[in-house]
Amino acid sequence: MPLLIRNAEIVTADGRYHADVYAEGETVTRIGRDLEAPPGAEIIDGTGKLLFPGFIDPHVHIYLPFMATFAKDTHQTASVAALIGGTTSYIEMCCPSRLDDALEGYQLWKSKAEGASACDYSFHMSVTKFEEGTEGQLREIVADGISSFKIFLAYKNFFGVEDGEMYQTLQLAKKLGVIVTAHCENAELVARLQQGLLAEGKTGPEWHEPSRPESVEAEGTHRFATFLEATRTAGYVVHLSCQKALERAMAAKSRGVRLWIESVLPHFLLDKTYAERPGVEGMKHVMSPPLRQRQNQDVLWDALANGFVDTVGTDHCPFDVAQKALGSEAFTQIPNGIPGIEERVNLLYTYGVKRGRLDLHRFVDAASTRAARLFGLFPRKGTIAVGSDADLVLYDPEYRGVISAATQHTNCDYSGFEGMSIEGRPSVVTVRGRVQVRDGKFVGEHGRGRLLKREPVYF
Ligand code: URP
Ligand code: ZN
Ligand code: ZN
Repeated sequence: MPLLIRNAEIVTADGRYHADVYAEGETVTRIGRDLEAPPGAEIIDGTGKLLFPGFIDPHVHIYLPFMATFAKDTHQTASVAALIGGTTSYIEMCCPSRLDDALEGYQLWKSKAEGASACDYSFHMSVTKFEEGTEGQLREIVADGISSFKIFLAYKNFFGVEDGEMYQTLQLAKKLGVIVTAHCENAELVARLQQGLLAEGKTGPEWHEPSRPESVEAEGTHRFATFLEATRTAGYVVHLSCQKALERAMAAKSRGVRLWIESVLPHFLLDKTYAERPGVEGMKHVMSPPLRQRQNQDVLWDALANGFVDTVGTDHCPFDVAQKALGSEAFTQIPNGIPGIEERVNLLYTYGVKRGRLDLHRFVDAASTRAARLFGLFPRKGTIAVGSDADLVLYDPEYRGVISAATQHTNCDYSGFEGMSIEGRPSVVTVRGRVQVRDGKFVGEHGRGRLLKREPVYF
């Protein structure tokens, strides 16, 4: 059914104006004043609302075998949560372990999403080892439309790559025009520090951060940047959490390394005192890199405002309270991760735009457009333009609400952001022209989501 959104204020990364938007089939076909719609078209009044391009979460975990358990969401639950929060596409980390075969892993991850996701999706393909046969498999995966890799410098012996494997992955990525995303922490130091703390009887969640201090992340960031420089490959640091790591990344950028930076929602809003809460309350807030000292939040907000931090993702990774409690005896056994796919846009809008920390266009850029550009989705996604997919978020800036696990759609029994107020939320969310969300409720088609085939970008 054709769709006409009338009289909203369109806001993109570089434009702001009042107009009507008309979509036929799956794409925007007209933008202008006083557009007419044929009989039978769905007409939505956008008066008083902002109209954003669909938001893109560049870093989520949905199917994830990790730390002796599995993340809780399915694509059905995660995509509904994403859409209610205004995210119309996400890029999931496809994470076979070092024991698994890359191609089989990719097929498995793909099968979990197919027919289940209500929003569009793609994958960053994790390279967790590099051996004979890896190159051929990765070439096949890239040919299937996956134009980004992921490497972990952390998680020794599970996801983590050795330096030699990182070098081989970057060389191949360079040849294929693929950007490499990286979790930057020094795996060896983390393992040694963890052992030392446990040996001293320091077992609670408050010791997670000291086991992976800022210097450990700064080292990983610097090493990744150095390898990018040596191989002349494009890279993207995921979930950068602190000033020390930012300084290393900025130093690399300023000497010409093709490096982009993502920070994730928890690091802007939560500090390490959350993980220092006793027992399971602290465990709920264990993620890696860890929540940091509060002063890093101002550093990240400023870096985001001026575009040094390029994108804001979530690192959505829900483990419920019973799973978190697996780490009751030792913080090293707490499944790492905090959910956030549903809250990202509203919290960024509230604590960024509404609090005067973030320009409205930079907000759209960081939460949608820049990820689209970096990961080969622009201008299909990330903007509102004739010819773009009709992924639209009609946003009500007058809405007031409070984040609560009791009302969330993510399959998890807690929210890391419990009790935080929000000042705005999507009224209507469309995926390729079809209304999927109305006033906080999923009203759409499960399984509408499509795998987004992406071409290499060759930065
Ligand atoms: O704590 C986190 N971040 N969990 C998910 C895995 C990862 O490192 O991204
Ligand atoms: Zn990570
Ligand atoms: Zn992650």
